[in-house]
Amino acid sequence: FQPKALAGKRVLVTAGPTFEAIDPVRGITNLSSGKMGFAIARAAREAGAEVTLVAGPVALPTPRGVTRVDVRSARQMLEAVLPRAPQHDVFVATAAVADWRPATLSEHKIKKEGKKLAPTFELVENPDILATVAALPDRPYCVGFAAESENLLAHARAKLERKKVPLVVGNLGPATFGRDDNALLIVDAQGHRPLPADGSTADKLTLARELVREIAARIAP
Ligand code: C5P
Repeated sequence: FQPKALAGKRVLVTAGPTFEAIDPVRGITNLSSGKMGFAIARAAREAGAEVTLVAGPVALPTPRGVTRVDVRSARQMLEAVLPRAPQHDVFVATAAVADWRPATLSEHKIKKEGKKLAPTFELVENPDILATVAALPDRPYCVGFAAESENLLAHARAKLERKKVPLVVGNLGPATFGRDDNALLIVDAQGHRPLPADGSTADKLTLARELVREIAARIAP
């Protein structure tokens, strides 16, 4: 009998995009499908963890045995994550959080009629959920994601430093957005290595299971 790798552990995952409303019918979002985060939640559950999944607006079924909290905006995601984070052993931030949101929310639909010029929108920065959790005194083991279109290793390394997290997982997004397969780069203070180990691609659930093994090995007593 071999105990499951994350038995007795609690894992918190963010997944999907966020949606930042402009008015009641419009907003700013991105192309994240949530597939990687949902696969990680499923893999962590399979590995015996108690899993909470904080999801932005996505069209995906909740993995079996996982507690799901649905949110829309980055601020709602932070509100859902912050009080829960200290009760978890691991925090995996896969969500593609919108970096900015409209400074004001129009109560009514912004109308085109009677306007000579197209409207302009002032944006303000959203909170950095991962960095906020990583700065908590009673923080869980934090894992960040880096979706980059170039210089993946350099950006992932920079993210380790900037967000003060022990592990960053890089992928060459947005090419992977919505796809079922992916290739990851695991980056920590010791170095970096590809997942799958042979540098090929694999489906997101296979990658999630490997990543969960990597995390379990790092938090093992
Ligand atoms: O800063 P950047 O978006 O490149 O960092 C990506 C990592 O930080 C991901 O793990 C993402 O989930 C997390 N993040 C966050 N809150 C933000 C922006 C990014 O948690 N506002």
